Amino acid sequence: MGQELWTKVDEYINAVTMAPDAALDAASAAAVAAQLPPIAVTPAMGKLLHLMVRAHGARRILEIGTLAGYSTIWLARAVLPSGHVISLESNPKHAEIARENMLRAGLSARVQIRVGNALDTLAQLAAERQPPFDFTFIDADRANLAEYFDWSVKLSRAGSIIIVDNVVRKGAVIEASSDDINVKGVRRFNERLAGDSRVSATMIQTVSAKGYDGFAMALVL
Ligand code: SAH
Ligand code: DHB
Ligand code: MG
Repeated sequence: MGQELWTKVDEYINAVTMAPDAALDAASAAAVAAQLPPIAVTPAMGKLLHLMVRAHGARRILEIGTLAGYSTIWLARAVLPSGHVISLESNPKHAEIARENMLRAGLSARVQIRVGNALDTLAQLAAERQPPFDFTFIDADRANLAEYFDWSVKLSRAGSIIIVDNVVRKGAVIEASSDDINVKGVRRFNERLAGDSRVSATMIQTVSAKGYDGFAMALVL
């Protein structure tokens, strides 16, 4: 049991749950062509986010970490016809590719990609007094994860949901002495979670075509 099997099972899951999808395929192909890192959510995780948003009836979505907009497409499709996604991305090249992908997917009207360091953009969103976000997907650098989560809670309302990607990191998350900047960032976030009376949270371990990892889910109280 290992990566080979996890990848095969992901292919099987895709085959039994998903129809061919030109816009998602084009977005993935554009990311490959531009040599972006292959770190978008898997199709199954993208669809999980999509279904969570629909089940929740969320209309205003915040995403931190756009890359080529693969997850953004899943999120934006879930808020049709009246919702909106604001996705934060620090790399202008990633943002440009994501905008092209939104255009191809017919989603440009409901997706706003804001270029800049998410720490600055989040402060800006707060300063603009944006109405609260119903659903937030955090998937950017892990060094600032605790701050991203804190901002996300502040930009939420009671009943909002926050999903945080990549919180298990092949199990390295339990290594207290790790000097991996990502592990340290995730651990700093995790350690605050139990004592954060603003939310109720859980964490789910996952295996997939992207290996062994996991995500956190928090309900804002
Ligand atoms: N959510 C995407 C994948 C995001 S990958 C998907 O599943 O399809 C993480 C992204 O976060 C990268 O594009 C990276 O450039 C961006 N990022 C890294 N540090 C950031 C920061 N400080 N502010 C905003 N975006 C950042
Ligand atoms: C990495 C980032 C991700 O968001 C992810 O889902 C997997 C890996 C990374 O930076 O290695
Ligand atoms: Mg991720």
